[in-house]
Amino acid sequence: MSTLESYDEIPYESVPLTDTHPDHLYVIGRLFGLPAADPARCRVLELGCAAGGNITPMAYYLPDSRFVGVDLSARQVEDGRRLIEGLALDNVQLMHANVMDLGRELGEFDYIIAHGLYSWVPAPVRSKILALARELLAPHGIAYISYNTRPGWHVRGMVREILLYETRGVTGHRARLARAREVIALLGAASAGKQSPMMGLMHAEVQQLTQASDSYLYHEYLEDTNEAFLFSDFVADARAADLQYLADCELHTLFSSTLPPAAAAQVDALDELLEQEQLMDFLRARLFRKSLLCRADAPASRDIDLAGMLGWYAYADLAPEKGKPDLARRRPQTWVAPTGGRFEVQEPLTKAALTLLAEVYPDAVRVEELAQQAAQRVPGNGGGRGAPQAAALDAFYGELFELFAAQALRLTPRATGYRTRPDQQPRATALAAAQAALGFGCAASPRHVGAQLDAFATRLLGLLDGSRTLDEVAAHLLEEAERGQLAIPTEGAPDARLRGVRRNVTRLVQTFVRHALLAP
Ligand SMILES: C[S@@+](CC[C@H](N)C(=O)[O-])C[C@H]1O[C@@H](n2cnc3c(N)ncnc32)[C@H](O)[C@@H]1O
Repeated sequence: MSTLESYDEIPYESVPLTDTHPDHLYVIGRLFGLPAADPARCRVLELGCAAGGNITPMAYYLPDSRFVGVDLSARQVEDGRRLIEGLALDNVQLMHANVMDLGRELGEFDYIIAHGLYSWVPAPVRSKILALARELLAPHGIAYISYNTRPGWHVRGMVREILLYETRGVTGHRARLARAREVIALLGAASAGKQSPMMGLMHAEVQQLTQASDSYLYHEYLEDTNEAFLFSDFVADARAADLQYLADCELHTLFSSTLPPAAAAQVDALDELLEQEQLMDFLRARLFRKSLLCRADAPASRDIDLAGMLGWYAYADLAPEKGKPDLARRRPQTWVAPTGGRFEVQEPLTKAALTLLAEVYPDAVRVEELAQQAAQRVPGNGGGRGAPQAAALDAFYGELFELFAAQALRLTPRATGYRTRPDQQPRATALAAAQAALGFGCAASPRHVGAQLDAFATRLLGLLDGSRTLDEVAAHLLEEAERGQLAIPTEGAPDARLRGVRRNVTRLVQTFVRHALLAP
């Protein structure tokens, strides 16, 4: 069996990809009339799974579902298997194999994921990915395929072309990376402060590359294959493989309402939904897509059915940008996500619901119940004396859907609660502890979000084994730092140093609690 040397030497950061979670795919499928399989009892295949950092956490939190990951890089598969063995999971398997060699023997799957693969493989492998999706998808299954899109990706492609040229004579992955970094610095300096629009584009592109990891830089800019596609060409290829386009994972991109009114009118004037989406890609200079496909004979529709939402559970981690939520008036207010995303809502019921969801995050509340509980917080709109008015309720559900479409709020068909409070002697979840111990650089939350772990956070998670108080953990970390085993800035007198470490421990433990990385 061959391997992919570049990925063996520079492994991809294998992390949870929130949008690929079966919960998200299920909800979108059902909204579009496809009776997608229950995520709690489903079968998932991931092609190009790297070290399984996406499916292994899914398998950990969905013990009655079955997961198979396939990757051609032997080293990444070995890394991933160590995590699975450490956790003794028997519902996830990583295979070292070429997508080209797969077939029906793998069985049938409810969800097939190919993230960061389609653009990065040659044409025969791309055809095989679509053929496998058709062959292995269950009748109501959903395939998630992401790819770089034209024309927006051309700017990235321009920098890629420069880097490929400038590294052409350099041998060895690390040496090519080093040369690429030199060229990026050169391009950054040459384009700084220039007025020309072209130089502005170049500057923005190389600026984000100065922060990029080796893995991203190498595999996006220096690999032999990386192609971008027009959305309409991708859909045509999917159709030729007997698949149909269901929707985009980033649901808000389906709607013209986020465009300026004149542009939205042009989009809405088109009869064909696929033509509308293509035009919107142009208007947004879109450079990446996460397309969902299903079998051509699957009963999907483009009319969204919001009724299903009432029985699902919502969770969100948003806070008002300024001041308190104004529950008395229909006034636009901006809410922000921990990642910096900003979302405007105006309905008092929505503001009350977001406040409530932030209080219980990462737990979820059944949507119908959320409306009732939110109404109790809104003066004059139920206010505990009755049900909210129908018009207010409709407006609330409308905003809730918009928040879901914008990925500010998530929906799940399951009621599972994950909220934890730090114990006297906190203990990390087995998954977070194992990811920290194996140096994954990120710990997966039950909401399938990756919490980045620097050296300090990694060591801290390792010490949270249920045998130490946080004071003891802080003292232990300081000792390790003073022995030179852990690089943390410690200054001042011994007790001041200890207080500094203790403050960091408190701050990080709060983050771990927020992500439910501590065992209940
Ligand atoms: C850009 S990485 C994406 C990894 C992961 N899906 C993610 O997005 O985090 C592409 C992955 O596909 C794998 N790959 C490339 N060609 C493959 C093939 N023909 N068969 C199986 N895996 C392949 C690589 O080894 C690598 O792990």
